[in-house]
Amino acid sequence: MRVKYNQKDIDYLNENNKNKLSFEDFLDKKSSFFDSNKELFLEIGPGKGKFIIDLASKNLDKNFLVVELNKTISGVALRKIDESKLSNIKLMCIDFYKLSDSLKEGIFDGIFLNFSDPWPKKRHTKRRLTSPNFLKAYNKVLKMNKYIYLKTDNEGFFDYSLEQFLNAKFKLNYLNRDYKEDFDFDALTEYEEKFLSKGVKIKKMIVEKTEETNCEII
Ligand SMILES: C[S@@+](CC[C@H](N)C(=O)[O-])C[C@H]1O[C@@H](n2cnc3c(N)ncnc32)[C@H](O)[C@@H]1O
Repeated sequence: MRVKYNQKDIDYLNENNKNKLSFEDFLDKKSSFFDSNKELFLEIGPGKGKFIIDLASKNLDKNFLVVELNKTISGVALRKIDESKLSNIKLMCIDFYKLSDSLKEGIFDGIFLNFSDPWPKKRHTKRRLTSPNFLKAYNKVLKMNKYIYLKTDNEGFFDYSLEQFLNAKFKLNYLNRDYKEDFDFDALTEYEEKFLSKGVKIKKMIVEKTEETNCEII
């Protein structure tokens, strides 16, 4: 997502804590968010937050954590989350990979990867959110028999991701290369709206963590 550095958005991020979790808060367990009895879902790279706000407003009985590494984008998303008045979304501004070591095993009931940066160059493979190290992290933090939901416009990233998931023996539960938001538990993202308006086909897959899943072999 190309967004210019914007000090106002970064100031907003720094000055507003109601729906933001810092890494320190998280380590000190100052938030009951992770211990609540509600199901907890993770979105990595929410961009400006449209998807998560729409999904969370339709699912008030569930909690949603968004992890976004870019400070300006996080500031924009946090403002929108605050304005939504929803209390079931928290944002952390951090690279998910840095966070994953500190996360407890099996805490998430689902993970959303929406229009992740495809990083097409081979030397950037490790940055792809479906590269083997990220899959290991997802396997750790996802509960058994729960799902990773992936949507993208990018055929190359989709095929790469499918190959990685299958190598690690995630179970493929759903695949559609011309997806038109027809799931209840879903919402349009900013990128999705843009691509649909240009006639670009959206690819979606859902994979499940099962007893067979093994990220050590990839
Ligand atoms: C292309 S944008 C997609 C935004 C949004 N999901 C959408 O569909 O409109 C990808 C976002 O992922 C974020 N991102 C990429 N790698 C990340 C990581 N390792 N941890 C957290 N956020 C990440 C980027 O900063 C960017 O905001």
